[in-house]
Amino acid sequence: MNTGCEIINVRLNDAGDAVVIIDQSLLPNETRYLTLRGAGELYEAIAELRVRGAPAIGIFAAYALYVLAAGSAATRYDEFYDELLKNKAYLDSSRPTAVNLRKMLDRMEALARSMSSESVPRIIEAMRREADAIYDEDVAMCRAISEYGLTLVRPGDGILTHCNAGPLATSRYGTGLGAILLAKERGIELRAYCDETRPLLQGARLTTFELYKAGVDTTLICDNMASIVMREGKINACFVGCDRVAANGDAANKIGTSGVAILAKHYGIPFYVFCPSSTIDPNCATGGDIEIEQRAPDEIKEKFFIKPSALPEVKCYNPAFDVTDNALITAIITERGICRAPYAESFAELGLLV
Ligand code: MRU
Repeated sequence: MNTGCEIINVRLNDAGDAVVIIDQSLLPNETRYLTLRGAGELYEAIAELRVRGAPAIGIFAAYALYVLAAGSAATRYDEFYDELLKNKAYLDSSRPTAVNLRKMLDRMEALARSMSSESVPRIIEAMRREADAIYDEDVAMCRAISEYGLTLVRPGDGILTHCNAGPLATSRYGTGLGAILLAKERGIELRAYCDETRPLLQGARLTTFELYKAGVDTTLICDNMASIVMREGKINACFVGCDRVAANGDAANKIGTSGVAILAKHYGIPFYVFCPSSTIDPNCATGGDIEIEQRAPDEIKEKFFIKPSALPEVKCYNPAFDVTDNALITAIITERGICRAPYAESFAELGLLV
């Protein structure tokens, strides 16, 4: 697939003792790679969105837990496992909304637990293979989900995006953007309208970067322009990713997503959520069970401005995600197929509620 920029944003270094990422907080103006080994810097990379996007966070967490395990001085299983539990809890506390973080950490821990009678070096080796498997599964997921997404568009369509669901947010190809990139590769010209996505500008900084580099007709708009482009007939579908999807299909994604869905309903435009199976949380019955991350006020007033945009005394409210009600979602696209309401049944048919 033509991803425009062949960036592999999460990988192990050659020695296998550190995680290498591209620092997404600096894009598109600077391409800097970070080599991370310590628990503190691995935690910080997630918390500060140097690595971000639900699937990419999950992959990163798996490699991070492996790197910390590989650096352990423990020789006895109980000592090794206690340390692993501490590292897991620490990494898990970095961000609360994307379920991929918890799920991939659980998967790595379950593997170590299932090998309690083996030597520590053998467990560490197996953890590396598991993290690689998580990465490879994500690549395959992205390709499959993109193929399904491609069936939803026609040549010339205008697609509105919110936040970033591209290669940078996953292993390689992306989910929502994967479909647009696949279309380009197959010679189907689409027009992408990208919400800038205040306050951290993932749409402006990352989505337009990825699409433009791939040669897609890309237009950046402010978040508050989504209504006018829909009204003017420029948009045929909305493609968004997600961070945690409840069993009933309510979908948490970047703040502002639910507003886009409400607008889409008003204008009669299909609203599609691209959702890997790893992002469905059967433990959340509805969106009301999803914890929404609250972030620092300076992201609203100071970050990306030469001077603060408001007085220091002004209060800010900065939720990083919101939940789109399943009734506003036309379909949820997974790597196993396209799900439609009622979502609990549709998920169950594809074996997605595990
Ligand atoms: O705060 P972020 O940048 O990690 O939020 C990311 C999103 O909301 C993405 O849309 C989502 O993770 C989909 S990734 C394919």
